[in-house]
Amino acid sequence: MRLMSGRVAGKVALITGAARGQGRADALRLAEEGADVIVVDVCAPLPSVPYDSATPEDLAETVSLAEKTGRRVISGIVDVRDLGRLRGIVDDAVQQLGRLDIIVANAGICVPKPWDQVTPQIYEDTISTNITGTWNTVMAGAPHLVEAGGGSVILISSAAGLKVQPFMVPYTTSKFAVRGMAKAFAAELGQHNIRVNSVHPTGVNTPMGSGTMQAEIGAAIAGYDRLGPMFMNMLPVDGTEPEDVADTVLFLASDESKFITAHEIAPDAGVTEF
Ligand SMILES: NC(=O)c1ccc[n+]([C@@H]2O[C@H](COP(=O)([O-])OP(=O)(O)OC[C@H]3O[C@@H](n4cnc5c(N)ncnc54)[C@H](O)[C@@H]3O)[C@@H](O)[C@H]2O)c1
Repeated sequence: MRLMSGRVAGKVALITGAARGQGRADALRLAEEGADVIVVDVCAPLPSVPYDSATPEDLAETVSLAEKTGRRVISGIVDVRDLGRLRGIVDDAVQQLGRLDIIVANAGICVPKPWDQVTPQIYEDTISTNITGTWNTVMAGAPHLVEAGGGSVILISSAAGLKVQPFMVPYTTSKFAVRGMAKAFAAELGQHNIRVNSVHPTGVNTPMGSGTMQAEIGAAIAGYDRLGPMFMNMLPVDGTEPEDVADTVLFLASDESKFITAHEIAPDAGVTEF
Protein backbone atom coordinates (compact mmCIF):
# COMPACT_ATOMS: atom_id res chain seq x y z
CA MET A 1 0.00 0.00 0.00
CA ARG A 2 1.27 3.47 -0.90
CA LEU A 3 1.53 6.19 1.69
CA MET A 4 -1.59 8.30 1.84
CA SER A 5 -0.93 11.89 0.90
CA GLY A 6 -4.48 13.06 0.32
CA ARG A 7 -4.23 14.29 -3.25
CA VAL A 8 -8.03 14.00 -3.59
CA ALA A 9 -8.89 14.30 0.11
CA GLY A 10 -12.52 15.09 0.83
CA LYS A 11 -13.65 14.44 -2.74
CA VAL A 12 -16.13 11.84 -3.97
CA ALA A 13 -15.52 9.81 -7.13
CA LEU A 14 -17.75 7.69 -9.38
CA ILE A 15 -15.97 4.88 -11.24
CA THR A 16 -17.69 2.59 -13.77
CA GLY A 17 -16.41 -0.87 -14.68
CA ALA A 18 -14.89 -1.02 -11.21
CA ALA A 19 -15.29 -4.75 -10.44
CA ARG A 20 -11.75 -5.48 -11.61
CA GLY A 21 -8.95 -4.35 -13.90
CA GLN A 22 -8.35 -0.65 -14.37
CA GLY A 23 -11.63 0.41 -12.75
CA ARG A 24 -10.67 -1.36 -9.52
CA ALA A 25 -7.16 0.14 -9.62
CA ASP A 26 -8.63 3.62 -10.17
CA ALA A 27 -11.04 3.21 -7.26
CA LEU A 28 -8.30 2.00 -4.91
CA ARG A 29 -5.86 4.73 -5.93
CA LEU A 30 -8.46 7.47 -5.46
CA ALA A 31 -9.54 6.01 -2.10
CA GLU A 32 -5.92 5.73 -0.95
CA GLU A 33 -5.58 9.43 -1.72
CA GLY A 34 -8.60 10.38 0.37
CA ALA A 35 -11.69 10.13 -1.87
CA ASP A 36 -14.92 8.33 -1.05
CA VAL A 37 -15.85 6.14 -4.01
CA ILE A 38 -18.97 4.99 -5.82
CA VAL A 39 -18.08 1.83 -7.71
CA VAL A 40 -20.41 0.30 -10.31
CA ASP A 41 -20.17 -2.58 -12.75
CA VAL A 42 -22.50 -4.82 -14.77
CA CYS A 43 -20.94 -7.93 -13.14
CA ALA A 44 -22.50 -10.20 -15.75
CA PRO A 45 -21.56 -12.19 -18.83
CA LEU A 46 -20.95 -10.01 -21.89
CA PRO A 47 -21.98 -12.22 -24.83
CA SER A 48 -19.73 -10.72 -27.53
CA VAL A 49 -16.39 -10.73 -25.71
CA PRO A 50 -13.76 -13.52 -25.95
CA TYR A 51 -12.54 -13.04 -22.35
CA ASP A 52 -13.93 -13.89 -18.90
CA SER A 53 -16.65 -11.59 -17.54
CA ALA A 54 -16.66 -9.85 -14.16
CA THR A 55 -18.80 -11.23 -11.31
CA PRO A 56 -20.57 -9.75 -8.25
CA GLU A 57 -17.75 -11.32 -6.17
CA ASP A 58 -15.23 -9.22 -8.13
CA LEU A 59 -17.12 -6.03 -7.27
CA ALA A 60 -17.39 -7.12 -3.62
CA GLU A 61 -13.61 -7.57 -3.61
CA THR A 62 -13.15 -4.01 -4.93
CA VAL A 63 -15.42 -2.75 -2.15
CA SER A 64 -13.53 -4.68 0.52
CA LEU A 65 -10.12 -3.45 -0.72
CA ALA A 66 -11.32 0.16 -0.97
CA GLU A 67 -12.87 0.05 2.52
CA LYS A 68 -9.47 -0.93 3.92
CA THR A 69 -8.32 2.63 3.13
CA GLY A 70 -10.88 3.90 5.64
CA ARG A 71 -12.89 5.77 3.00
CA ARG A 72 -16.61 5.32 2.45
CA VAL A 73 -17.56 3.04 -0.44
CA ILE A 74 -20.91 2.57 -2.17
CA SER A 75 -21.35 -0.05 -4.87
CA GLY A 76 -24.00 -0.80 -7.45
CA ILE A 77 -24.59 -3.44 -10.08
CA VAL A 78 -25.75 -1.73 -13.25
CA ASP A 79 -25.26 -1.84 -17.01
CA VAL A 80 -23.97 1.58 -18.07
CA ARG A 81 -26.23 1.30 -21.12
CA ASP A 82 -29.22 1.73 -18.75
CA LEU A 83 -29.28 5.48 -18.07
CA GLY A 84 -32.35 5.38 -15.82
CA ARG A 85 -30.92 2.76 -13.47
CA LEU A 86 -27.46 4.35 -13.51
CA ARG A 87 -28.97 7.73 -12.58
CA GLY A 88 -30.90 6.13 -9.72
CA ILE A 89 -27.79 4.51 -8.26
CA VAL A 90 -25.65 7.65 -8.66
CA ASP A 91 -28.31 9.96 -7.21
CA ASP A 92 -28.79 7.69 -4.17
CA ALA A 93 -25.04 7.38 -3.58
CA VAL A 94 -24.44 11.12 -3.91
CA GLN A 95 -27.23 11.78 -1.44
CA GLN A 96 -25.48 9.48 1.05
CA LEU A 97 -21.95 10.79 0.44
CA GLY A 98 -22.98 14.43 0.14
CA ARG A 99 -21.35 15.41 -3.17
CA LEU A 100 -19.65 14.25 -6.36
CA ASP A 101 -16.38 15.70 -7.71
CA ILE A 102 -14.82 13.09 -10.00
CA ILE A 103 -16.25 10.87 -12.73
CA VAL A 104 -14.19 8.06 -14.25
CA ALA A 105 -16.09 6.57 -17.22
CA ASN A 106 -14.06 3.39 -17.54
CA ALA A 107 -16.48 0.56 -18.39
CA GLY A 108 -15.81 -0.77 -21.86
CA ILE A 109 -15.46 -3.87 -24.01
CA CYS A 110 -13.09 -4.89 -26.79
CA VAL A 111 -13.78 -7.61 -29.36
CA PRO A 112 -10.90 -8.05 -31.83
CA LYS A 113 -11.85 -9.49 -35.23
CA PRO A 114 -10.78 -8.96 -38.83
CA TRP A 115 -13.23 -6.49 -40.39
CA ASP A 116 -15.21 -9.13 -42.31
CA GLN A 117 -15.82 -11.23 -39.18
CA VAL A 118 -17.41 -8.41 -37.17
CA THR A 119 -21.10 -9.26 -36.67
CA PRO A 120 -23.86 -6.65 -36.24
CA GLN A 121 -24.12 -7.82 -32.61
CA ILE A 122 -20.42 -7.18 -31.92
CA TYR A 123 -20.66 -3.76 -33.57
CA GLU A 124 -23.78 -2.83 -31.62
CA ASP A 125 -22.48 -4.10 -28.27
CA THR A 126 -19.20 -2.19 -28.69
CA ILE A 127 -20.79 1.07 -29.77
CA SER A 128 -23.54 0.98 -27.13
CA THR A 129 -21.21 0.08 -24.26
CA ASN A 130 -18.21 2.22 -25.12
CA ILE A 131 -19.95 5.29 -26.54
CA THR A 132 -23.51 5.37 -25.18
CA GLY A 133 -22.37 3.95 -21.83
CA THR A 134 -19.77 6.70 -21.53
CA TRP A 135 -22.30 9.38 -22.46
CA ASN A 136 -24.76 7.93 -19.92
CA THR A 137 -22.09 8.04 -17.22
CA VAL A 138 -21.40 11.74 -17.81
CA MET A 139 -25.13 12.51 -17.99
CA ALA A 140 -25.75 10.71 -14.67
CA GLY A 141 -22.81 12.32 -12.88
CA ALA A 142 -22.24 15.79 -14.32
CA PRO A 143 -25.30 17.49 -12.76
CA HIS A 144 -23.81 16.67 -9.36
CA LEU A 145 -20.46 18.21 -10.37
CA VAL A 146 -22.29 21.36 -11.45
CA GLU A 147 -23.95 21.39 -8.04
CA ALA A 148 -20.55 20.93 -6.33
CA GLY A 149 -19.21 23.97 -8.22
CA GLY A 150 -16.68 22.04 -10.31
CA GLY A 151 -14.88 18.76 -10.80
CA SER A 152 -13.01 16.46 -13.12
CA VAL A 153 -14.46 14.08 -15.69
CA ILE A 154 -12.11 11.40 -17.01
CA LEU A 155 -13.16 9.35 -20.04
CA ILE A 156 -11.16 6.16 -20.59
CA SER A 157 -10.47 5.87 -24.28
CA SER A 158 -7.45 3.92 -25.60
CA ALA A 159 -4.36 4.21 -27.75
CA ALA A 160 -6.94 3.04 -30.30
CA GLY A 161 -8.61 6.44 -29.85
CA LEU A 162 -5.48 8.29 -30.99
CA LYS A 163 -4.08 5.94 -33.63
CA VAL A 164 -5.73 3.12 -35.53
CA GLN A 165 -5.29 -0.27 -33.92
CA PRO A 166 -5.98 -2.92 -36.55
CA PHE A 167 -8.53 -5.73 -36.36
CA MET A 168 -10.76 -3.62 -34.10
CA VAL A 169 -13.00 -1.52 -36.35
CA PRO A 170 -15.87 -1.11 -33.84
CA TYR A 171 -13.49 -0.59 -30.89
CA THR A 172 -11.32 1.95 -32.71
CA THR A 173 -14.46 3.76 -33.88
CA SER A 174 -15.81 3.85 -30.33
CA LYS A 175 -12.58 5.08 -28.75
CA PHE A 176 -12.15 7.90 -31.29
CA ALA A 177 -15.73 8.86 -30.42
CA VAL A 178 -14.93 8.93 -26.68
CA ARG A 179 -12.00 11.26 -27.40
CA GLY A 180 -14.29 13.63 -29.29
CA MET A 181 -16.94 13.36 -26.59
CA ALA A 182 -14.43 14.52 -23.95
CA LYS A 183 -13.65 17.69 -25.91
CA ALA A 184 -17.33 18.38 -26.63
CA PHE A 185 -18.31 18.06 -22.96
CA ALA A 186 -15.23 20.08 -21.92
CA ALA A 187 -16.40 23.03 -24.03
CA GLU A 188 -19.81 23.26 -22.40
CA LEU A 189 -18.92 22.19 -18.85
CA GLY A 190 -15.97 24.58 -18.55
CA GLN A 191 -18.28 27.38 -17.40
CA HIS A 192 -19.03 25.26 -14.32
CA ASN A 193 -15.32 24.79 -13.55
CA ILE A 194 -15.57 21.17 -14.70
CA ARG A 195 -12.61 19.74 -16.62
CA VAL A 196 -13.04 16.86 -19.08
CA ASN A 197 -10.15 14.85 -20.50
CA SER A 198 -9.64 11.49 -22.19
CA VAL A 199 -7.06 8.85 -21.26
CA HIS A 200 -5.37 6.68 -23.90
CA PRO A 201 -3.53 3.65 -22.48
CA THR A 202 -1.52 1.14 -24.50
CA GLY A 203 -2.11 -2.55 -23.69
CA VAL A 204 -2.84 -3.04 -19.98
CA ASN A 205 -2.59 -6.36 -18.12
CA THR A 206 -6.21 -6.86 -17.05
CA PRO A 207 -8.76 -9.68 -17.35
CA MET A 208 -9.67 -8.16 -20.75
CA GLY A 209 -6.64 -10.12 -21.95
CA SER A 210 -7.94 -13.47 -20.57
CA GLY A 211 -9.85 -16.28 -22.30
CA THR A 212 -9.14 -16.47 -26.02
CA MET A 213 -8.43 -12.71 -26.37
CA GLN A 214 -4.70 -13.05 -27.14
CA ALA A 215 -5.33 -15.96 -29.52
CA GLU A 216 -7.96 -13.90 -31.40
CA ILE A 217 -5.55 -10.99 -31.86
CA GLY A 218 -2.75 -13.39 -32.86
CA ALA A 219 -4.97 -15.09 -35.43
CA ALA A 220 -6.03 -11.73 -36.90
CA ILE A 221 -2.39 -10.57 -37.17
CA ALA A 222 -1.43 -13.89 -38.77
CA GLY A 223 -3.99 -13.14 -41.49
CA TYR A 224 -2.16 -9.90 -42.47
CA ASP A 225 1.05 -9.65 -40.45
CA ARG A 226 2.17 -6.36 -42.02
CA LEU A 227 -0.08 -4.69 -39.41
CA GLY A 228 1.38 -6.52 -36.38
CA PRO A 229 3.96 -3.78 -35.57
CA MET A 230 1.10 -1.28 -35.08
CA PHE A 231 0.76 -2.72 -31.55
CA MET A 232 4.49 -2.15 -30.76
CA ASN A 233 5.40 0.16 -27.86
CA MET A 234 8.27 2.64 -28.22
CA LEU A 235 9.40 1.93 -24.64
CA PRO A 236 10.80 -1.57 -24.03
CA VAL A 237 7.62 -2.97 -22.43
CA ASP A 238 4.96 -5.25 -23.90
CA GLY A 239 2.24 -4.04 -21.56
CA THR A 240 1.48 -1.80 -18.60
CA GLU A 241 -0.34 -2.45 -15.32
CA PRO A 242 -3.74 -1.11 -14.19
CA GLU A 243 -1.93 0.88 -11.47
CA ASP A 244 0.03 2.74 -14.17
CA VAL A 245 -3.20 4.01 -15.70
CA ALA A 246 -4.58 4.74 -12.22
CA ASP A 247 -1.65 7.12 -11.69
CA THR A 248 -2.78 9.11 -14.73
CA VAL A 249 -6.39 9.03 -13.55
CA LEU A 250 -5.35 10.29 -10.11
CA PHE A 251 -3.39 13.15 -11.68
CA LEU A 252 -6.39 14.20 -13.76
CA ALA A 253 -8.71 13.83 -10.75
CA SER A 254 -6.49 15.96 -8.51
CA ASP A 255 -5.95 19.72 -8.49
CA GLU A 256 -2.44 19.13 -9.87
CA SER A 257 -4.09 19.16 -13.31
CA LYS A 258 -6.41 22.09 -12.53
CA PHE A 259 -5.80 23.84 -15.85
CA ILE A 260 -5.77 20.74 -18.04
CA THR A 261 -9.04 20.26 -19.92
CA ALA A 262 -10.18 19.07 -23.35
CA HIS A 263 -6.96 17.09 -23.75
CA GLU A 264 -5.83 13.57 -24.47
CA ILE A 265 -3.44 12.16 -21.84
CA ALA A 266 -1.69 9.02 -23.04
CA PRO A 267 0.02 6.51 -20.74
CA ASP A 268 0.76 4.67 -23.99
CA ALA A 269 4.51 3.80 -23.81
CA GLY A 270 4.82 5.66 -27.09
CA VAL A 271 2.69 3.23 -29.12
CA THR A 272 0.70 5.98 -30.78
CA GLU A 273 3.81 7.65 -32.28
CA PHE A 274 5.41 4.42 -33.41
N1 LIG B 1 -6.77 -3.67 -21.23
C1 LIG B 1 -6.29 -2.92 -22.20
O1 LIG B 1 -5.32 -3.31 -22.87
C2 LIG B 1 -6.87 -1.56 -22.48
C3 LIG B 1 -6.10 -0.65 -23.21
C4 LIG B 1 -6.61 0.62 -23.46
C5 LIG B 1 -7.88 0.96 -22.99
N2 LIG B 1 -8.61 0.05 -22.29
C6 LIG B 1 -9.93 0.47 -21.79
O2 LIG B 1 -9.86 0.53 -20.39
C7 LIG B 1 -11.16 0.33 -19.82
C8 LIG B 1 -11.09 -0.72 -18.73
O3 LIG B 1 -10.69 -1.96 -19.30
P1 LIG B 1 -9.93 -3.12 -18.51
O4 LIG B 1 -8.68 -3.38 -19.24
O5 LIG B 1 -9.88 -2.84 -17.07
O6 LIG B 1 -10.93 -4.36 -18.85
P2 LIG B 1 -11.77 -5.32 -17.92
O7 LIG B 1 -12.56 -6.16 -18.87
O8 LIG B 1 -10.87 -6.03 -16.97
O9 LIG B 1 -12.71 -4.35 -17.09
C9 LIG B 1 -13.80 -3.69 -17.66
C10 LIG B 1 -14.94 -3.71 -16.67
O10 LIG B 1 -16.05 -3.03 -17.29
C11 LIG B 1 -17.22 -3.75 -17.00
N3 LIG B 1 -18.25 -3.50 -18.01
C12 LIG B 1 -18.22 -3.89 -19.31
N4 LIG B 1 -19.37 -3.55 -19.90
C13 LIG B 1 -20.12 -2.92 -18.97
C14 LIG B 1 -21.41 -2.33 -18.99
N5 LIG B 1 -22.19 -2.35 -20.08
N6 LIG B 1 -21.87 -1.76 -17.85
C15 LIG B 1 -21.12 -1.74 -16.71
N7 LIG B 1 -19.89 -2.30 -16.65
C16 LIG B 1 -19.40 -2.88 -17.76
C17 LIG B 1 -16.80 -5.19 -16.97
O11 LIG B 1 -17.72 -6.02 -16.26
C18 LIG B 1 -15.43 -5.12 -16.33
O12 LIG B 1 -15.47 -5.29 -14.94
C19 LIG B 1 -12.06 -0.05 -21.00
O13 LIG B 1 -12.78 1.10 -21.41
C20 LIG B 1 -11.07 -0.47 -22.06
O14 LIG B 1 -11.59 -0.32 -23.36
C21 LIG B 1 -8.13 -1.20 -22.02
